[in-house]
Amino acid sequence: MAAKIIDGKQVAAEMQAELKAEVAQLRQEGIVPGLGVILVGEDPASQSYVTAKERACAELGIYSDDNRLPANITQKDLIALINKMNADPKINGILVQLPLPKHLNEGEVLIAISPDKDVDGFHPTNIGKMVAGQPAFLPCTPHGVIKLLQRNGVKIEGAHVVIVGRSNIVGKPIANMLIQKSKDGNATVTVCHTKTKDLAHHTRQADIIIAAAGRPNTITADMVKDGVVVIDVGVNRIKDASKKSGFRLTGDVDFEKVKEKASLITPVPGGVGPMTITMLLYNTVESAKRAAGKI
Ligand code: GUN
Repeated sequence: MAAKIIDGKQVAAEMQAELKAEVAQLRQEGIVPGLGVILVGEDPASQSYVTAKERACAELGIYSDDNRLPANITQKDLIALINKMNADPKINGILVQLPLPKHLNEGEVLIAISPDKDVDGFHPTNIGKMVAGQPAFLPCTPHGVIKLLQRNGVKIEGAHVVIVGRSNIVGKPIANMLIQKSKDGNATVTVCHTKTKDLAHHTRQADIIIAAAGRPNTITADMVKDGVVVIDVGVNRIKDASKKSGFRLTGDVDFEKVKEKASLITPVPGGVGPMTITMLLYNTVESAKRAAGKI
C-alpha cells in the first residue's frame, strides 16, 4: 500500500484562515491578541523558527513584540524582561524559544512566565493541569499532532499509539494527552526511548507511530506494520552541498520506504512543523479571549 501523504501545510492553512477570521472579529471589538517573543543567541534553526512564528502573527493580525537578546544575557535580565511582559496587558502570550544557552537555567525561566500567558504550555502549572485532565494551554507540537490526526480522519480512540522519544516538549506531553479520558484521547500508549529494548518489537505493534527521537532513520520499513499511520516530528539538518543553505531537512523516519507500507504519513518538512506554529497562534488567541473575559 502506498501511503496518502498528510499535508500539514494544508491543515495549518485551513486552521490559520479560521483564526484570521476570528482575530478580525476580535479586533472589531477592540481586542488585539499579542505575543511576546524572546530569542536568546544566534542559533540558526531557532532564528528561522522565531521568524516564521512572527511572520505568521503578522499574517493573522496578531501583534508580536520581538526581542532578540545576546547569547550572554544574564538570568536576571532575562527574567526581568519576562516579568515586564507578564505585567503588559498588550501581551497575551510569551514565547521563549528553546533551547537556551547552557549558562541559563531553563526550568527557572519557564516558571517565571505567568501560567496565564504560557502559550507554549511548558509551565509546571499547565503541565499539571494537562496531566490531571483540566483545561490548560496545551503544548503546541503535541496539540498540532492531534489536530493533524483528527483532520485527516484518523481514529485515536482505542488505537495503539507508539511514541518514540520522551522529551518534555513532545514525547511526555503527547503521551499524557493521548491517554486522557476525552474526545482527543482514549488511546493505548507505549512510550519508547533510548533505553528501550527491541524498539522494533514495539513499533511493529503500533496503529499509529509518533517519531520524536531527533535522529534520522530511527523508524525504518522493517519496523512498521502494513497500514500504520506515521507522524514524523523529527527535524534533522543533514549536510547537502547541492542546497544553497548547505543542508536539507529530514525527519526521524525513512520516509521513502516507510510510505510504501503506511496508510498515512507526514513528510518533513511540510508535516508537523506548520502545525506547531498554528497551535501557538491558537493558544495566543485563546489567551486574548480569556483576558477579555470572553471564555
Ligand atoms: N524549541 C523547539 N520547539 C519549541 C517550541 O514549541 N516552543 C519553544 N518555545 N521552543 C521550542
